[in-house]
Amino acid sequence: MRFDVVTIFPQMVLDSAMNGVTGRAIKRGLVDLSVWNPRDYTADKHKTVDDRPYGGGPGMVMKYQPLKDAIDSAKGSVNAEQQVKVVYLSPQGRPITQQLLNESVALDQLILIAGRYEGIDERFIEEQCQEEWSLGDFVISGGELAALVVIDAVSRLLPGVLGDEESAKQDSHMHGFLDCPHYTRPEVIAGKKVPDVLLSGNHKGIERWRLQQSLGRTWQKRPDLLLNNELTAEQQTLLEEFKTELKNK
Ligand SMILES: C[S@@+](CC[C@H](N)C(=O)[O-])C[C@H]1O[C@@H](n2cnc3c(N)ncnc32)[C@H](O)[C@@H]1O
Repeated sequence: MRFDVVTIFPQMVLDSAMNGVTGRAIKRGLVDLSVWNPRDYTADKHKTVDDRPYGGGPGMVMKYQPLKDAIDSAKGSVNAEQQVKVVYLSPQGRPITQQLLNESVALDQLILIAGRYEGIDERFIEEQCQEEWSLGDFVISGGELAALVVIDAVSRLLPGVLGDEESAKQDSHMHGFLDCPHYTRPEVIAGKKVPDVLLSGNHKGIERWRLQQSLGRTWQKRPDLLLNNELTAEQQTLLEEFKTELKNK
């Protein structure tokens, strides 16, 4: 899959993406990442990408043309059959969720527009962007961090990117619930012992415990997620057991 980020801070995106899981995926050719700087599509000596807002007021607004030219370059090598989406990262967008990211895996190319200043000319959003995606109900100074979040979260869903593909499948939100707790050596820390079942070697028992913990902590930490998910009879029994054990502790 190919990611293109349109940003006035291309190095910020490259420096961060070249680490860890995304860095390995790029080096192994499982993910392509290109950056496009709108300043490279300006004609004046200051490489101006912003201008004052019509109507007055604080801040500057990113201009249409340099962004449009940057997108056109990003789309350069795409053929008509390829699935391409242009997304503006924006606090006004659809909240980024695991479901939205899972849907994006089917794309061939995702072009991510990182805004700066007060944002970008509205006509660019209307004419050139298919969607707006948001990190959450807060404002950050630029879309680069949001673009990096998307690149990381989508890359880990692509075949071959994670060492063990099962690990992504078990992550929080993949099935609507939170992940179970994890432990590693030593067996006892601050008087707290690793749950016996994890030392038992009983794989069925471990699987059952993990599912129960996953349901239990979703109920404890994010009960709203359970409203969107109808539990199977087995899941309901496990959750009831979890609640009873908690009460009797
Ligand atoms: C200072 S913000 C501009 C905010 C804009 N004036 C508004 O209130 O909608 C600059 C840029 O940061 C990015 N940004 C800010 N908050 C974001 C969020 N929650 N999710 C995604 N991108 C965000 C956008 O690309 C935006 O153009």
